[in-house]
Amino acid sequence: MTQPSSHAVAPPWAMLAELTHGCPLRCPYCSNPTELVARAAELDTGEWARVFEEAAALGVVHAHLSGGEPLLRRDLVEIVGAARGAGVFTQLVTSGVGLAGRRVAELVEAGLHSVQLSVQAAEPAESDRIAGRRSFMAKELAAAAVVEAGLPLGVNVVLHRHNLDRIEDLIELGIAWGAERIELANTQFYGWGLLNREALLPTREQLSRAESIVTKYREKTGVELIWVIPDYFDGVPKPCMGGWGAISITVAPDGRVLPCPAAYDLPLDLPNVREHALSWIWEHSAAFNAYRGTAWMAEPCASCPRKELDFGGCRCQTYALTGDAAKTDPACGLSPDHHLITRLSARESVKEKPFVYRELKRPPSVVDP
Ligand code: SF4
Ligand code: FES
Repeated sequence: MTQPSSHAVAPPWAMLAELTHGCPLRCPYCSNPTELVARAAELDTGEWARVFEEAAALGVVHAHLSGGEPLLRRDLVEIVGAARGAGVFTQLVTSGVGLAGRRVAELVEAGLHSVQLSVQAAEPAESDRIAGRRSFMAKELAAAAVVEAGLPLGVNVVLHRHNLDRIEDLIELGIAWGAERIELANTQFYGWGLLNREALLPTREQLSRAESIVTKYREKTGVELIWVIPDYFDGVPKPCMGGWGAISITVAPDGRVLPCPAAYDLPLDLPNVREHALSWIWEHSAAFNAYRGTAWMAEPCASCPRKELDFGGCRCQTYALTGDAAKTDPACGLSPDHHLITRLSARESVKEKPFVYRELKRPPSVVDP
């Protein structure tokens, strides 16, 4: 593993604050780790306040308050207030369950800046099926409450085989709910998404049809549409996290700090805000320096002209598929492991499997070797 660098490291500007892994929903594509943090181990209000102060001093200007479901934190209003006090803008990333009336007003008063609301499908029954719990009505009410409170609303949809064919309806739903921004994010296969890969993997035809519909809507609507590319199909790796330890920092519910929200399973010694200052973690911890920059790369990345563009792809996906996070992402057509992806995208496109729903207890692995 690369030693901590001695030169100055550019500061992060974004933070993902995972306030809790508790969640009323059970989405099978959840990017949380399969081993979730217990509620009793969570940072308390004062610890989060200190984290925001340290983050602001480091350069962070924007924090996503996420989970799990951050509304499960009874001290969410205090946490939002602490972030605002530190000078950090906050966006609530929520399922919408529990976001109504008075809670919205309190969060606005505490300084909440915007809300990103997830929805699983445009059909209420299908949305509830994918979420593993009745929740569509609560989301609809939450969207109305957010818009009424004057907060910018974003809608996030994780896309997969079960909802890609209804992408027009999902875009229309976001527009009807008053979203300024609709994020259409193809499932990333790690965490629970990896456990459910066979059930979720779409076909190439589904993806190309959906992408052309997004292009069509971009021309006719003023709503911002974000299409997060599926990297299993086109041989081009994604520039994950804008580079390792480059722009963003993730704080887990128990204070562990990660270069990427999906890095729990990597063989890294994760530092903790309970033991170290955030600035030391960002600049000097081994975890943040492990894949920073390009010096760690082996071939074919080391001599590739795209290495500053995609940073060798996703470390978490690479580790999940090859067992070595320092290799070239198998999503890349130049990777010697690319067959791992092409084999999967061809083989699994025809399989139907039931969901393994997210739960606090770690499930048995159901991923093929
Ligand atoms: Fe990116 Fe490495 Fe593939 Fe080049 S070889 S395109 S740097 S992942
Ligand atoms: Fe962790 Fe890509 S999800 S680096």
